[in-house]
Amino acid sequence: MDIELFKKEAHALVEWIADYYREIEKYPVKSQVKPKEIFNQLPVSPPQKSEAIPAIMEDFQKIIMPGITHWQSPNFFAYFPANSSYPSVLAEMLTAALGAQCMIWETSPAAAELEEKVMNWLKQMMGLPESWYGVIQDTASSATLCAILSAREKATNYETNNNGFSQNNFRVYGSTQTHSSIDKAVKIAGIGKNNLIKVAVDENLALDPDALEKAIKTDLLNGKKPLCVIATIGTTGTTAIDPIKEIAAVCKKYDIWLHVDAAFAGTALILPEMHYMADGLDMVDSYVFNPHKWMFTNFDCSAYYVKDKETLIRTFEIMPEYLKTAVDSQVNNYRDWGIALGRRFRALKLWFVIRSFGVDGIRERIRNHIKMAQELVKKMKEHGSFEILAPVPLNVICFRFKPKNMSDENELNKLNETLLKQLNASGKIYMTHTKIDDKYTIRMVIGQTYVLQKHVDTAWELIQETAKNLKK
Ligand SMILES: Cc1ncc(COP(=O)(O)O)c(C=O)c1O
Repeated sequence: MDIELFKKEAHALVEWIADYYREIEKYPVKSQVKPKEIFNQLPVSPPQKSEAIPAIMEDFQKIIMPGITHWQSPNFFAYFPANSSYPSVLAEMLTAALGAQCMIWETSPAAAELEEKVMNWLKQMMGLPESWYGVIQDTASSATLCAILSAREKATNYETNNNGFSQNNFRVYGSTQTHSSIDKAVKIAGIGKNNLIKVAVDENLALDPDALEKAIKTDLLNGKKPLCVIATIGTTGTTAIDPIKEIAAVCKKYDIWLHVDAAFAGTALILPEMHYMADGLDMVDSYVFNPHKWMFTNFDCSAYYVKDKETLIRTFEIMPEYLKTAVDSQVNNYRDWGIALGRRFRALKLWFVIRSFGVDGIRERIRNHIKMAQELVKKMKEHGSFEILAPVPLNVICFRFKPKNMSDENELNKLNETLLKQLNASGKIYMTHTKIDDKYTIRMVIGQTYVLQKHVDTAWELIQETAKNLKK
């Protein structure tokens, strides 16, 4: 491909992208293909000769698109969103075009300095402690792993890095609602899944600080070393909000690292009225939230903050001769702020998003998502045959269909499983489920970048209609 052809194909692709966004609602939200359906349509071996982009695009439309779940559809109400937006897509094109590998300052000074700047902007936007240091990670899973590894190194005076474990009696604590990335992190960090203690939650499904302290005391009596607590602002199941201040007090008392996982809900801190969730954040050691979930910045972009950057850097520092530069003492070399050496230029899309939406624009959308969810909760309660199964502090509604004449829990579970299956098979909306107290629970997240009231209204009508027909 030469540059003239590149230009022609690039223009055609931008047209395709614009049409895709314009017509996104014509696609089934959840891909309807069966396992191996895509794989079996693709040739066994790669092409020997060059193929033209239009031919590749034809196969993209015919073979690949049916296997895509449309996360950017305004009718996507599943999981947590992985939002993109027009400015984010534009920035991602530039990132790909520049192809910069931003491992150290010198390999692209603008990338390092823009990253430092946008991470400072986010602190201001979200009202996070000014003294924190920020770095963009690929995912919240990596950020949480960084937190646990930093806690481990600090507790062992960086000796585990040098010699491996001499003895592992560490304990990590989360709640029964903590995300599975913490299970993964303790496995990778060598602490072990059996040393992850899942503390009980209260009636709002938030971590109970008294139960936490009790677990810590028991462990201390048994010769264990409490290492790290993971508190969550916005749990994955129900967006429960752990009481950070009370948990921080316990951590301070026993000198334990406190990491806060606000992967999804952290974006809501842009709203002053949601700032109660941040009470106590000034006492934590590390914090993560994902602009790639709810802040219109396409995957991957995870904002990780630490109180003490020296601990982070000492945990991950490497210094091979070929990476030494004359300016090392004056700049941030982000290769030492996380796991990977190679780094994408992720700050660019965040910069585009923040500038294009403006803080007010982001705030308005987030506020509207929460408002739409709260209004739908009211309608579900008024309906009489729907039950809200967990508090709705934000924009995630956990509900089930509960016809007046049905009380058997097994029957209700089956009914709601069928309801969700039918709704998703319709291709018109996509939601996922969780279990609360063994109750099959449908989870509806109203947080897609371009979701409007009309989409929520149509979804609610579809839910009612499908449920009504199930009963017969
Ligand atoms: C609370 C919470 N923490 C962590 C994660 C993991 O996020 P990531 O995919 O960025 O690793 C999720 C994903 O949904 C989450 O809900």
